Amino acid sequence: MAADDQGNDALARRTTVESAPAVQLEHLIKTYPGNPVPAVNDVSLDILEGQVFTLLGPSGCGKTTTLRMIAGLEAVDQGKLLFKDRVIVDTSRGYSMPPHSRDVGMVFQSYAIWPHMTVEDNVGFPLKVRREKKAEIRERVARALELVGLAGLEKRPAPMLSGGQQQRVALARALIYEPNVLLLDEPFSNLDAKLREQMRLEVKLLQRKTGVTIVFVTHDQVEALSLSDRIAVMDLGMVQQIGTPHELYQNPANAFVRDFLGKTVLLTGTVKISNPSGQVAVEIDGAPGSAVFGRSSTAEELGVGQAVNVAMRPEDVKLAANDGRQEPSTGLPGVIETQQFVGERTEYRVRLSNQPPLLAYSDWRQAFHEGEGVWVKIEPDAVTVWPGWATATRIEEGLDEPLLASAEATARV
Ligand SMILES: Nc1ncnc2c1ncn2[C@@H]1O[C@H](COP(=O)(O)OP(=O)(O)OP(=O)(O)O)[C@@H](O)[C@H]1O
Ligand SMILES: [Mg+2]
Repeated sequence: MAADDQGNDALARRTTVESAPAVQLEHLIKTYPGNPVPAVNDVSLDILEGQVFTLLGPSGCGKTTTLRMIAGLEAVDQGKLLFKDRVIVDTSRGYSMPPHSRDVGMVFQSYAIWPHMTVEDNVGFPLKVRREKKAEIRERVARALELVGLAGLEKRPAPMLSGGQQQRVALARALIYEPNVLLLDEPFSNLDAKLREQMRLEVKLLQRKTGVTIVFVTHDQVEALSLSDRIAVMDLGMVQQIGTPHELYQNPANAFVRDFLGKTVLLTGTVKISNPSGQVAVEIDGAPGSAVFGRSSTAEELGVGQAVNVAMRPEDVKLAANDGRQEPSTGLPGVIETQQFVGERTEYRVRLSNQPPLLAYSDWRQAFHEGEGVWVKIEPDAVTVWPGWATATRIEEGLDEPLLASAEATARV
């Protein structure tokens, strides 16, 4: 069958069975000898068929351990693992299917292709050791290389490939079995930023073409947001939240998720109006008469007079020239402290009264100079309001700008 026909087939399959879980993790626990803290602590999640599912979290949060338990490379201490309706691991019955029977392909962070072999031999190796027929191997290698965009490079010695091409050889080798589930552990970590971006797109296309379910591991939030159908954000061996990229970015369940997924601007204030549906108006400290509207991040209604943190993304902060007129209810007065032109936008650090400096992005067409007075306007839809205690203190570790929490900082790598 031609690769395209195969792709269409897979696409049709995917759209009809999209919501069925391909992989289910039920209360998985794993503790390594010599380390009393569990590496994976009661993780339950469903990975839907034909989707890219990402485990995202800082270094040491248990991503690789989770992936290796799915592959069977790490023993599960407690819990259950299912592929579709098939039980793969059930510790209550002492059952664990051996790794080679699980029908998964895996690409490790160090993708380790063999330098003394050609592209063709590298990709076909897993079939060769299983003594498949030569003609069969040749056909399947050609199909796998076609899928990853390396058709025609069969005879090329592996060292004579670029980093991105070597990465694709590793992908093709993982795809050669036509696995139902493909496990990718930080597969682009050795590539430069441009190639990573390209490979991200290609993995997504590959997934759409083949319909394979992908479990992807990364600590890079941009990679996760752009590649995934669904994401589980992990910290300390536990799942913090599961959702689509939009759900997580716009409705983070806690401060860890909020700050790990991107830059967050935090202001402090007092609740002026609060209604049961979760809409809140906040007067920002240092800006009497101001009103920033947003929605409560907690199920409980915030009380009038309560001290709160108001959180937003820098792209939702707008700047307008201060023409001298006072409009405290629709904006906060500020002064441009620094400006940095970064190509597609300018990033401003704005000094507000009684608040830490605030980060705002602005279109290159709109230029403010350092020392200029501005009005800071905040899009109401983009604001979440958090009780004062919810400030993410551990996120701020190591930051020189305490209120610009960034994933780079939390990744601690
Ligand atoms: N073989 C091992 N023996 C003992 N402890 C381990 C072992 N492998 C991992 N750990 C510990 O288990 C925890 C989870 O590790 P894991 O490799 O799953 O994290 P990770 O999220 O993949 O991190 P990274 O982003 O750095 O790859 C860490 O605290 C780690 O130190
Ligand atoms: Mg890892």
